[in-house]
Amino acid sequence: MFSVRADETSKQSCRHTEKVGPKNNNSSCTLPMKYFIETYGCQMNKYDSELVAGILEGAGYCPSLRPEDADVILVNTCSVRQHAEQRVLQRLNSFKALKLERPDLKIGVLGCMAQRLGEKILVEKPFIDFVIGPDSYRNILQVLNGVHSEQRESSPKIFLNEYESKETYADVCPVRVRGVNAWVAVMRGCNNYCTYCIVPYVRGRERSRSAQNVIEEIRRLVDEGFVEVTLLGQNVNSYWDGEHDFADLLAMVAKVEGIERVRFATSHPKDLSEKLVRVIAENEKICNHIHLPVQSGSTRILQLMNRHYSREDFLAKVEMIRKYLNPVGLTTDIIVGFPGEEEDDFRQTVELVREVEFDSAFVFKYSPRPGTRAAQFDDVVSAAEKTRRLEEINTLQKEITKSKNRQLIGQRGVILVEGRSKKSETDVMGRLETNKIVVIPNTILPKGKLVEVTIVGADGVTLFGRVNHQN
Ligand code: SAH
Ligand code: SF4
Ligand code: F3S
Repeated sequence: MFSVRADETSKQSCRHTEKVGPKNNNSSCTLPMKYFIETYGCQMNKYDSELVAGILEGAGYCPSLRPEDADVILVNTCSVRQHAEQRVLQRLNSFKALKLERPDLKIGVLGCMAQRLGEKILVEKPFIDFVIGPDSYRNILQVLNGVHSEQRESSPKIFLNEYESKETYADVCPVRVRGVNAWVAVMRGCNNYCTYCIVPYVRGRERSRSAQNVIEEIRRLVDEGFVEVTLLGQNVNSYWDGEHDFADLLAMVAKVEGIERVRFATSHPKDLSEKLVRVIAENEKICNHIHLPVQSGSTRILQLMNRHYSREDFLAKVEMIRKYLNPVGLTTDIIVGFPGEEEDDFRQTVELVREVEFDSAFVFKYSPRPGTRAAQFDDVVSAAEKTRRLEEINTLQKEITKSKNRQLIGQRGVILVEGRSKKSETDVMGRLETNKIVVIPNTILPKGKLVEVTIVGADGVTLFGRVNHQN
């Protein structure tokens, strides 16, 4: 969960005046309307909140640090699992008291739940003023003007969730939290229809921004002080702007002067090409980290999931990656308890985890999403069994992560300093290109600096290092 912080937002320099984007400098902001955004879900949603902040600040709104001080509260939501939705619904209830205290306060629900549940949210939670899905953020100012209008009686609660199949927000300047890494969505939507997944229904069809437009945004990011970018898409490998594929785009981004590191997420194993892996290998600035969600180690279950690859195909991709990239950070997502997953299928997933030795894995219990194909499948796995399977993989992966981290002791690597370590005032932390976090004793190294370190220890998932003295 992220909030756009008033004190940390980057002062934007959208030089193209015709563009939608913030014009006010936060510190000298005198306009009365304040907004607060809280974000749930994936990095794409975080980026979308930055876009919405850009649209609002472009119209003179100011960010607020706390919901209590805001005139407009926005909750950008996620539908990927039932638990994610429940968290948001509970959080929304906590804003009800604020609305009772201040009837002028406007509360809006954005994102994937807005798209999925639409008007239902307004019916079930009458204190919500408007609901806007991911393709309709351009309308937020009109919506706010509507709900703020004098004729409130005649401007009922608003709900917008049309799919705009071409919307990429290419001309909107996001307001970002100042830092080292900036997210940049290069494509939106998903055409894959994995049978368990709600994303294609809430995010619509795939569409890509032009490479030129992405490069312009990245140049602006360099001017704003960012040194690392993460290119985002539900399946970046299907990026296509009519001329360039994702490998072309990555190579172009890596050439932008001032960018030190380029990352990306997420890759669908069926589309991960040798060309892309070669581009990563050839460009020092493109980080050797691939998030490659396997979901299951059983070909039978992968077919039921509509993933379009077998266990063997996945293992072949891993081999290809490791042929070109060394070292490489390889991370994954796994779903346990998919309908029909027998003990034998699960054992195949366990064996695959053992064989591949991922650097880390996000393991999820299957959660049926209404409207998806898998939600109609029989052979439901019990909640207790899902928990057991989740725990087994998590325990195994933890051991693998620890052992792989211990093997790094004594090795050298370069970290990009991100700031103070969370646990200690006298340490800073940064990431290796493989995305592993390294903590080093130091208080003066500035954010955004690349430093060569030697790994001297590993405790659980955290690595400890010391700075190598450069001659
Ligand atoms: N586009 C990405 C992932 C998007 S969702 C991809 O294709 O890999 C992030 C992760 O949530 C997925 O990789 C999957 O592991 C998990 N997930 C999606 N739907 C789910 C569901 N219904 N139940 C449990 N986990 C789910
Ligand atoms: Fe969902 Fe599959 Fe698309 Fe990923 S590729 S967003 S898991 S449908
Ligand atoms: Fe969630 Fe929507 Fe992202 S469902 S994972 S916020 S695309």
